[in-house]
Amino acid sequence: MFDFYQNHSLKQYNTFHLNVTSKNFLRLNTKEGWTLFCETQKNKFSIDDILILGGGSNILFLNDVEALVVHPAMHGIQIVDETADHTMVEADAGVIWDDLVEWTVRNGLGGLENLSLIPGCVGASPVQNIGAYGTEAKNTISLVNGIDLIDGKTVELDNASCQFGYRNSIFKTSHKNLLITSVVFKLSKHPEFKLSYGQLMTEVEKLGTVDLRNVRQAVINIRQSKLPDVREIGNAGSFFKNPVVDAEIAEQLKQAFPEMPVYKAAGNQTKLAAGWLIEQAGWKGYRSGDMGVYDKQALVLVNYGNATGRDIYELSEKIMKSVFEKFGVELEREVNVVKE
Ligand code: FAD
Ligand code: EPU
Repeated sequence: MFDFYQNHSLKQYNTFHLNVTSKNFLRLNTKEGWTLFCETQKNKFSIDDILILGGGSNILFLNDVEALVVHPAMHGIQIVDETADHTMVEADAGVIWDDLVEWTVRNGLGGLENLSLIPGCVGASPVQNIGAYGTEAKNTISLVNGIDLIDGKTVELDNASCQFGYRNSIFKTSHKNLLITSVVFKLSKHPEFKLSYGQLMTEVEKLGTVDLRNVRQAVINIRQSKLPDVREIGNAGSFFKNPVVDAEIAEQLKQAFPEMPVYKAAGNQTKLAAGWLIEQAGWKGYRSGDMGVYDKQALVLVNYGNATGRDIYELSEKIMKSVFEKFGVELEREVNVVKE
C-alpha cells in the first residue's frame, strides 16, 4: 500500500537531475496508502509539511527537502464510461503522461495527441493545466479525483470547479492540500484535429494522412527538434510562463519591436513570447559552468551536469531583471521553486 524511506535521493525524481535528498519519502502504491500511513504517525501534518512529487519535471529544488515527500505511484488506466461519440478514460496519478497519450492514440481516441511527449505524470496534468500545440489538458479533463491530505476525505471535482487557466488551476491556489489520485478524460471516438499551431500541419503532411498516429508523431518530431532530452540534459521545459499583458502595452512594444510575436489572449489581453524576449535580451545559448540557456529554445534553462538549484535560480533572476530592463515586461516562473 505504501513504502517509506528516509534520506532518500531525489536525483532520479527531478528532471534537472539535482542531487538533493528527501528526509522522509513516501511512495503511495494505492490511494488507501495515505490513510494507512497516517495511522502509523503520532502527529498530524499541516500542508506546509508536505510536498507532492510526480515526475519532478516542473520543479526546482534549492536545498535538501525537509518536508514529507508524497509520491503517487498508482498506475492504472481504464475505460469508465462510453457513449456513441465519447469514451471516458480514468488514469491514475502515477501513470506516465506520455504512456497515457500513447494508449489513447493506440485505442483510436482523440483529444490528447497534441500533448504528446510532455514529461511527468497524469496527477500533475491538471495542476498547471498542461498545454502544447494549440490545446490544453482542460479541453479533455472531465473529473479530477483526490484525497484531502489534511482531513483524509476523498474529493471529486468537475471541470468547471478546477478553475483552469493558462498554466493555472485551483490546485495551485485554494486546493494545494489535495493529492490528485486520478483524472477522468472525455475523449472523442471521432477525432477532430487541431493543426493550426506553428509548423504542425506541415509536419503532419510530411508523414502522410492526417490521423491520430501521424499527429502524435509530428508533435514528437517538432518537440525533439526544439527541446532538450531530459535523459541527456537536465531541464524542466519552459522555465517561465509567456507573459500576458494588456493589449495597449503589447501595441506599444510592437511599435518599438515590430518583429515581436504576439498572440491574442482572453479579454483585452495579449500573450507575448517569453522565449523571444529572452533571446532578444541576449541569453540564448548562454553558459556559465554547468548552467545555461538552451541554444535552440531560450525559455529552457539547463543543467549540463553539476549545476545546483541555486545556480539555476540565480540565473533565472538575472534573466528576469534583464528582460524587465529591456522591455519593461515582468516574467513569471512556470517552474515550482522549492526553497526550504
Ligand atoms: P512535478 O514536477 O512532480 O510537480 C509539478 C507540480 O504539481 C508540483 O507543484 C507538485 O506538487 C504538483 N503535483 C504533482 N503531482 C501531483 C498530484 N498527484 N496531486 C497534486 N499535486 C501534484 N508543460 C506543459 O504544460 N507543456 C509542455 O509542452 C511542456 N513541455 C515540457 C518539456 C520538457 C522537456 C520538460 C522537462 C517539461 C515540460 N513541461 C511542459 C512541464 C512538465 O512536464 C509539466 O508541468 C508536467 O505536468 C509536470 O508533471 P510532473 O509529474 O513531473 O510534476
Ligand atoms: N521564440 C524565439 N526564441 C526562442 C524561443 C521561441 O524567438 O528561443 C519565438 C518563436 O519563434 C515563436 C514564439 O517564440 O515565434 C513561440 O515559440 P514556441 O512556439 O516554441 O512556443 P513557446 O512559447 O516557446 C510554449 C509553451 C511550451 C509548449 C510550446 C508549444 C509556455 C510557457 N510554453 O512555448 O510548453 O510546448 O508553446 O505549444 O507556454 C512548458 O510549459 O514547459 C512548455 C514547454
